[in-house]
Amino acid sequence: MKRRIGKHNESSLDSSGVQNPPRGPKKVKAPSRPWLKKAFWSLFILLILVPVSLKILPQLVQHFVYAHRIRVPFFVDLSRPADLSLNHTINMYLTSEEGISLGVWHTVPASQWEEAQGKDLAWYQKALDSGSPVFIYLHGNTGTRAAPHRVGVAKVLSALGYHVLVPDYRGFGDSTGEPTEAGFTTDVLFLYKWVKARSGNSLVIIWGHSLGTGVSTNTAVKLIEQGEVFDGVILEGAFNSARQKLNIHPFIWYYWTYPGIGYVFREPWAENKVVFPTEANLKKMKSPILFLHSEDDYIAPLHFVQQMRDVAVKAQNAERVKLVIFDGIPGIYTQWFIQRPPVA
Ligand SMILES: *[C@@H]1O[C@H](CO)[C@@H](O)[C@H](O)[C@H]1NC(C)=O
Repeated sequence: MKRRIGKHNESSLDSSGVQNPPRGPKKVKAPSRPWLKKAFWSLFILLILVPVSLKILPQLVQHFVYAHRIRVPFFVDLSRPADLSLNHTINMYLTSEEGISLGVWHTVPASQWEEAQGKDLAWYQKALDSGSPVFIYLHGNTGTRAAPHRVGVAKVLSALGYHVLVPDYRGFGDSTGEPTEAGFTTDVLFLYKWVKARSGNSLVIIWGHSLGTGVSTNTAVKLIEQGEVFDGVILEGAFNSARQKLNIHPFIWYYWTYPGIGYVFREPWAENKVVFPTEANLKKMKSPILFLHSEDDYIAPLHFVQQMRDVAVKAQNAERVKLVIFDGIPGIYTQWFIQRPPVA
């Protein structure tokens, strides 16, 4: 509005008299349309700037997919798990390969919390050999091992009498390096073997959540290839491959909203940068598998996991594969996502 008034004033200043009608091509101006400008810039950003940036800076794709730099919760000192009332937890750094340092928390069974006070790494390592099952919890994308829902899992498992090891993959939290699918497998293989070397005959279970389910099955297949006997995996909120259209990211939303754009600017999974071929992995796995899934999972819909369960049953048998479905919780977020177009 302001601008228009300004222009009017200008033109009346230019013309000698107010009553003079505007003359000449100079005076004939299209009315300015601010919404048109906005639409133009939105289209420019969406259709040109974002794809070109992703093309020129392929590492940006990592940021979209893993969101590892979003270090939620903020202001948590990852070296002090006791601040999050994990008072029987030690923070350590493992070198999964040259130049890669992984931040890992090891929580002992809650029954040992008093004994654990003030103990060092050596005590914790020895404690692993107590005969209690050990869980390696592989978290999803975005944020660190200190996220409340991840701390919650560690607390529950520890209360049940289990050891819990929660790493941040390379590039996440205070772990060094850049996230890559192959790198995650290297990290988890290393941690698994580190645990195995210290836990005697204890059961060692890998529990993956969301992105972590993809890392879990990738690791399981690597272990099989190396001839290792694998105790089992829990896959919580699994997806069958990165190609499955997950309702997970603004990035995916972008390719959804403009379907044709995939032909011009390929998705990260089209270039085999992000694959997580869980369904293909399941066909090779010979260890017990427990799927945990919520019936209202809007990110990885239930029918996908039912399909994966069938694939796993076919590869093994129905006794070694289990799917536990949880009731949905009707909340505002769920409602909001349910109203979105269905996943193709
Ligand atoms: C330490 O953690 C254990 C297990 O979660 C809990 O039972 C205990 O009350 C905690 N102790 C303190 C002093 O916070």
